[in-house]
Amino acid sequence: MTNNNNEKLTTITGAPVVSHDNTQTAGRRGPVLLQDVFLIEKLANFNREVIPERRMHAKGSGAFGTFTVTNDITKYTKAKIFSEVGKQTEMFARFSTVAGERGAADAERDIRGFALKFYTEEGNWDMVGNNTPVFFFRDPLHFPDLNHVVKRDPKTNMHNANSNWDFWTMLPEALHQVTIVMSDRGIPNGYRHMHGFGSHTYSFINAENERVYVKFHFRTQQGIENLTNEEAGAIIASDRESSQRDLFDSIEKGDFPKWKMFIQVMTEEQARNHKDNPFDLTKVWYKSEYPLIEVGEFELNRNPENYFADVEQAAFAPSNVVPGISFSPDRMLQARLFGYQDATRYRLGVNHHQIPVNAPKCPFMVYHRDGQGRADGNRGSAITYYPNSYGALHGQPEYKDPALQLDGPADIYDFREDDSNYFEQPGKLFNLMNDDQKQQLFNNTAAEMNGVEDFIKERHIIHCHKADPAYGEGVAKALGIDINSIDLNKEIKYF
Ligand code: HEM
Repeated sequence: MTNNNNEKLTTITGAPVVSHDNTQTAGRRGPVLLQDVFLIEKLANFNREVIPERRMHAKGSGAFGTFTVTNDITKYTKAKIFSEVGKQTEMFARFSTVAGERGAADAERDIRGFALKFYTEEGNWDMVGNNTPVFFFRDPLHFPDLNHVVKRDPKTNMHNANSNWDFWTMLPEALHQVTIVMSDRGIPNGYRHMHGFGSHTYSFINAENERVYVKFHFRTQQGIENLTNEEAGAIIASDRESSQRDLFDSIEKGDFPKWKMFIQVMTEEQARNHKDNPFDLTKVWYKSEYPLIEVGEFELNRNPENYFADVEQAAFAPSNVVPGISFSPDRMLQARLFGYQDATRYRLGVNHHQIPVNAPKCPFMVYHRDGQGRADGNRGSAITYYPNSYGALHGQPEYKDPALQLDGPADIYDFREDDSNYFEQPGKLFNLMNDDQKQQLFNNTAAEMNGVEDFIKERHIIHCHKADPAYGEGVAKALGIDINSIDLNKEIKYF
């Protein structure tokens, strides 16, 4: 508590409040008077305390920290944050589950959000990733549907495993991500014990204005730790805030969690000749071909004083990049460049950039004006139009990205015709698992498929079998289905 004992209560307009115990009434035992303006103010403010929760990633935990460069990558990027070894930049991180609402339990089988905001001297860089290197699909049209199936059924208001697995198995490219979520890594033991990934392909631009493509990796220095379904169930029975508690308590006692940052780099030439689509979010780049290059480390060392102010009001957007870091043609990333700022305008309002956790720490000249909740003086009498005769608000052409070579006429292209190599990577992932991890994968899948119709289970078994016969056999056995009863070569109609 930071209250000063001598603090005296006022209204929001600063007028002294006479009593914080008794409302004004007509007579000793009479009804309340409408002229008790403080009572009305207090109730009205209370009614507006809840803001819309994030449509997904609603339950989360956040902390402030410091990023330190440990390796020189200036040949790839001119981003000031990486300009010299030893350089430090203040940052904020928010971790989350995806499907649960704001009051959901932490120890659920789900993807974890891994969102970082770096307050660089050329603007905020938001790295809005997950604890998985891939995602369920390649076209953003599927995104709202994913959230409809992992959230509540419109009629029962409960989780509907049948819709969930129907959707996932109608998208064979989802198997890679589904395998990760069903694996032993599907329930991290708190946010400190998981890796983070940018997942998408991004661009780095160097001082010569040359582009390379990059993927971002953040590797936990606390070690990977996971929970089994049984362990998670026991935790949830007594603690719904297990990840929040773990992160908060460890920072509070000075045991600051750390992640090392790495990049994978692909030249434009390599991207042109890459076996798969290098911008396909359902695939990783193999580390044997594109090794991890160390960049730096971040440490989370300060808990927010107020959760709502800093964590609930934090707003991340993949569109928040800085000179030296840019986008790629990944369809999913392109849609996210629109989605997040738009969601934030709905959730926090058009002046969300003035909320301290979101505000850049460098000078910024926002030309937009007015709007609800504008609290920064609104640029006073400064010029609000362009062009003008007074030299105000010119663009900065020196920050232009190199031209991006694109080809082909604009059209609606079926990504399945481009690449239907859905099962190679989930198969390789399966084969990285030891026997115990494989058995956990089978058991977790069977548990999550409880109540799902048989034809959907069979479709999943067929996909697993295509990734690796032992994967299909293991899942079938855990589901109590004789794999020999399934036509494994059956052609599946996806659309
Ligand atoms: C949150 C959209 C894919 C990571 C959100 C939010 C939206 C959204 C609207 C809520 C934002 C808010 O209210 O503040 C989308 C769309 C996607 C997509 C349209 C694909 C087309 C992804 C992917 C990742 C990801 C691929 C990770 C690689 C996150 C994270 C958050 C989030 C970490 C929570 C950010 C926070 O902590 O505030 N997403 N998303 N999303 N998304 Fe996505």
